[in-house]
Amino acid sequence: MTHIEKPLSINDLTAMKQRGEKITCLTAYDASFSALIDKAGIDMMLVGDSLGMTIQGHGSTLPVTIADMVYHTRCVSHARQRAFVVADLPFMAYATTALATENAAKLMQQGGAQMVKLEGARFEIVSFLVGQGVPVCGHLGLLPQSINQLGAYSVQGKEPAAADKMMEEALGLQQAGVALLVLECVPAPLATAISGQLQIPVIGIGAGLGCDGQVLVLQDMLNIGIGKRPRFAKDFMQGADSVEAAIRAYHLAVKQSLFPTAEHSF
Ligand code: KIV
Repeated sequence: MTHIEKPLSINDLTAMKQRGEKITCLTAYDASFSALIDKAGIDMMLVGDSLGMTIQGHGSTLPVTIADMVYHTRCVSHARQRAFVVADLPFMAYATTALATENAAKLMQQGGAQMVKLEGARFEIVSFLVGQGVPVCGHLGLLPQSINQLGAYSVQGKEPAAADKMMEEALGLQQAGVALLVLECVPAPLATAISGQLQIPVIGIGAGLGCDGQVLVLQDMLNIGIGKRPRFAKDFMQGADSVEAAIRAYHLAVKQSLFPTAEHSF
């Protein structure tokens, strides 16, 4: 008889933080990789709007629509057994509480997401969604949906005032009800301090070893991305004889706190 694993819940991820076990996460956009990532034991899959670049070939995440996100989230959630599934609300899909509610419902009801992620210190939107029973993941640091305001994909929170603001925003998001927080391209000491202050799990990408877990874009860690691999992303295909072995190597390196090293941090 085939053994079917129960999907992890947010309580399982929070318990991992409490007992000091690192949380592993990769982006996933389709059923084949979803099944493989799940089989390799990864705790969480993020259906990221990075699919605008990795799957659709755009130069940014901005062209991604809610219909794209629902389609890819459904592909991923159909094929997983155990990993917790989070899906991104794309650019402008949470500009108002009404839009956020309608689009979060699509990701959960049609896509099968267990949680939705949105970028920035959007306290009002977060507390409204949480009040409607929608689990929310925050995202601070580098916000790819704001690339045209930022001007470049660069490390955020380097200056003391910006670091203090990010700490305040992280605490504010927790207060508003987010159950998880992603920190992208943040100096390692700041990300460590934020992870230490928050009760909720903090998942880092280019944010150093002190976060409660790590996420990478799948194509970056398999070194099959279109553009230049970001400095914080290690090529796990090196020394691996299959894609599954590379994903298992990433999982083990994160669980054993061997990734990211200083070379992959800021
Ligand atoms: O869209 C995405 O893949 C993300 C990660 C970079 C965290 O938001």
